[in-house]
Amino acid sequence: MELIDGKKVSQDIKKEIAEKVKEIIGAGGRRPTLAAILVGHDGGSETYVANKIKACEECGFYSRLIRFENDVTEAELLNAIKELNEDGEVDGFIVQLPLPKHISEQKVIEAIDFRKDVDGFHPINVGRMSIGLPCFRSATPAGIMMLLERYNIPTSGARVVVLGRSNIVGKPVATMLMQKGYPGNATVTVCHSATKDLNAICREADIIIAALGQPAFVTADMVKPGAVIIDVGTTRVPDSSKKSGFRLSGDVDFEKVAPLCSYITPVPGGVGPMTITSLMNNTLLAASKAIYK
Ligand code: GUN
Repeated sequence: MELIDGKKVSQDIKKEIAEKVKEIIGAGGRRPTLAAILVGHDGGSETYVANKIKACEECGFYSRLIRFENDVTEAELLNAIKELNEDGEVDGFIVQLPLPKHISEQKVIEAIDFRKDVDGFHPINVGRMSIGLPCFRSATPAGIMMLLERYNIPTSGARVVVLGRSNIVGKPVATMLMQKGYPGNATVTVCHSATKDLNAICREADIIIAALGQPAFVTADMVKPGAVIIDVGTTRVPDSSKKSGFRLSGDVDFEKVAPLCSYITPVPGGVGPMTITSLMNNTLLAASKAIYK
């Protein structure tokens, strides 16, 4: 069994990005800039955004944080998005989700100029991804693809089982893995709450991507010996031995499953760091106009 070290891969890629930024600046170009809109003070969102800002520093990007309180109106938020769409110094931006209930996330996502949508959530980017056109790809699935690639994990003809059908992980990772090319050319099955014979389907899998948000859902009896396990789960579970009062739990029963696998991602330190790194990669692509002119 080999651990897939997302932290190391993520650091390597951030260094590569920082080198490219140096080249851009050396050639007289403008420093890439990522902006983030954060509404409220949810602990998870605060941490994610702080980590995104830190990653910007590591890559040599400028970052901007725009904060609103929970009672911000939808109109105020849409106005802030309009300003960022029109700001020539901002290459890409994100609106950290989830948003308060009185704001339509879909409306917000669709208000973002797709050429600055470095989260890859806008329907134009999702649609272009699904037909194999250049686009900003959603950060977590793109990060998973980078891990498979850096570890040379074979995907052509592989049976992949994706657990979970969310718009930000399950659906896009399934789409990416069925595309022609590498990593891709896989035979993908997407499982969800209505799937029958889930254990039997999982046991057929060469690669399992667990993205359903249920701690320790994938147990040893669901895993074929030699399978590759990608654990996308990051549920906060109470843990009084930690200073923060919680620990992150993946969707896989790591202790029991790991000995069976050829490769497995730990939680934390697997997929998590890759999500932010692939957001950085998208920001570099936006700044260098590599996808949209
Ligand atoms: N909330 C959880 N994951 C994400 C993400 O990748 N992007 C944004 N904007 N919000 C999130």
